[in-house]
Amino acid sequence: AAGSGRAARGLRFNPVVPNTADTVTVPDGYQQNVVIRWGEPILRGAPAFDPDHQTAATQAGQFGYNCDFLSLLPLPGERGKQLLVANHEYTDEVLMFAGYDEANPTREQVEIAWAAHGLSAVVVEEDRRTGKLTAVPRHHLNRRVTATTEFRVTGPAAGSDLLKTSADPTGTKVLGTLNNCSGGTTPWGTTLHGEENFNQYFGNATRATDKRYGIGTGGTERKWELFDKRFDVAQEPNEVHRFGYVVEFDPYDPSSTPRKHTALGRFKHEAATVRLTADGRPVVYSGDDERFDYFYKFVSSKRMKHGTSRAVREHNLSLLDEGTLYVAKLTGDSPAIEIDGTGKLPSDGEFDGSGEWIPLATATAKGAVSHVDGMTAEEVFVFTRLAGDKVGATKMDRPEDIEPSPLTGKVYVALTNNKDRGATGKAGPDEANPRNSNKHGHVLELTERWNRPESTRFAWSLFLVAGDPNDPATYFAGFPKDKVSPISCPDNVAFDPYGNLWISTDGAQLGVHDGLFGVATRGSRRGELKQFLTMPAGAETCGPIIQERRVLVAVQHPGEIDGASVENPASTWPDGPGKLVRPAVVAVWRADGCAIGS
Ligand code: FEO
Ligand code: CA
Ligand code: CA
Ligand code: CA
Repeated sequence: AAGSGRAARGLRFNPVVPNTADTVTVPDGYQQNVVIRWGEPILRGAPAFDPDHQTAATQAGQFGYNCDFLSLLPLPGERGKQLLVANHEYTDEVLMFAGYDEANPTREQVEIAWAAHGLSAVVVEEDRRTGKLTAVPRHHLNRRVTATTEFRVTGPAAGSDLLKTSADPTGTKVLGTLNNCSGGTTPWGTTLHGEENFNQYFGNATRATDKRYGIGTGGTERKWELFDKRFDVAQEPNEVHRFGYVVEFDPYDPSSTPRKHTALGRFKHEAATVRLTADGRPVVYSGDDERFDYFYKFVSSKRMKHGTSRAVREHNLSLLDEGTLYVAKLTGDSPAIEIDGTGKLPSDGEFDGSGEWIPLATATAKGAVSHVDGMTAEEVFVFTRLAGDKVGATKMDRPEDIEPSPLTGKVYVALTNNKDRGATGKAGPDEANPRNSNKHGHVLELTERWNRPESTRFAWSLFLVAGDPNDPATYFAGFPKDKVSPISCPDNVAFDPYGNLWISTDGAQLGVHDGLFGVATRGSRRGELKQFLTMPAGAETCGPIIQERRVLVAVQHPGEIDGASVENPASTWPDGPGKLVRPAVVAVWRADGCAIGS
């Protein structure tokens, strides 16, 4: 078995056995605690969670539902405390409300759901003797952002006719953020949050542009359009153009208005991850999580400033408003006949090739310029998927999270799965997406030319082709497959302090629950992948943060299994029978206080 002694530094733990237990399983010698659950009060005046007397007002002061991306920011001057920022991607009404009637939700239920979406900022305090983290309610930095919080639209599409509505003729003020999936932490101390499957909140759409974004022609499942006409595209056609952006949040200023950055384009942003060029300009990677969609990069033309003054912070909050948005095009270097995804490697030994970042539009202080024939710059930023279509970007197997290695600069792109690859009428396999009906997904490694983040050319190869290692159509960077854990459906990616890549999964197709895995990216153990924890029933692993002495994960949508409800739960995590299943954040540490995986 993969032993604890000889693995790469940071990965020296006994891997957990894949399982279907309704709990978070961690390696021998590790301990865990629930940091914060859905419904726990964080704002002054918010009451304790009481599912029988929940209101929109109480929820607006409590931790939201379905935590996803997590960021932990330092709090200088507050010993043992850090600031946790969490996304609340969406709501599972049947698991939140006893007797929920899907055909007839009440206004109160709908408004609770609005208040359970968005973001939370909550200060957390560490136990001095263990790795345990607990929330600090009523801290002055604690904040909730919901589906009704005011946002400012910035960048090249702000004020565009495409964004004007009856409630906001300026096209610059939006209420709320929806479906915040993963995100990123900026070097200037803010957080970025991807608005992902925003399509599901809007109904009665008929335009071709709406269709390309998956916005339905009928009513929605949640029926919000019956309670606020802005969710009814037939009545308020431009409201839907105001979602699908990267949101920036300043967690150190609780009075700040969060922003939607149009320069990063509008699509189903899984996440947004930042690195800096040598001269201090941010570069942001973002995947569009849809079968056969693209991944993108934004290169700012403005340099980050250092410092904490208001003027510096205001400058840095404008960094993502000017620059160029690119989409990725990948070309394989092996003959098409070799790309069968059965486990036989191409004759050059690798699924690999070259790539190009194709510019779509450039935003400047004076205005924006389109690089796409037949589309204005505003159209490129609002209908970004159509721009990618026009320039022939590479159709990927659901690009999810993207993370550059802080040690090597190589960039890792999680491609979660694509059951439709090779289906009738759909794109077949290519060297970057080599498997038909790709059930388990893969992870691509991208190297920018000269290792410069702003390069417009890159090289790429497949780092992992996921699945049961006994399946010949899997690949673990060439590492012996009898020494790795099975993995399926990579979603979020993060780095530990040693340059190991950590991968969380969503929807694993191996008959066991989702989990969190660490894999070496360098040296003789490159490709050695080990499972660190497993999830409760129905849950997806999200938001991993790998610190030296602590791992943090969001347990998202536990109990979300077809037919489950409050009355008929599929999970009773974390509080046991008789209690509602509750999405929550979990901290894991080593009982002996040593570093994770040391
Ligand atoms: Fe919200 Fe692509 O996962
Ligand atoms: Ca995700
Ligand atoms: Ca090749
Ligand atoms: Ca996912």
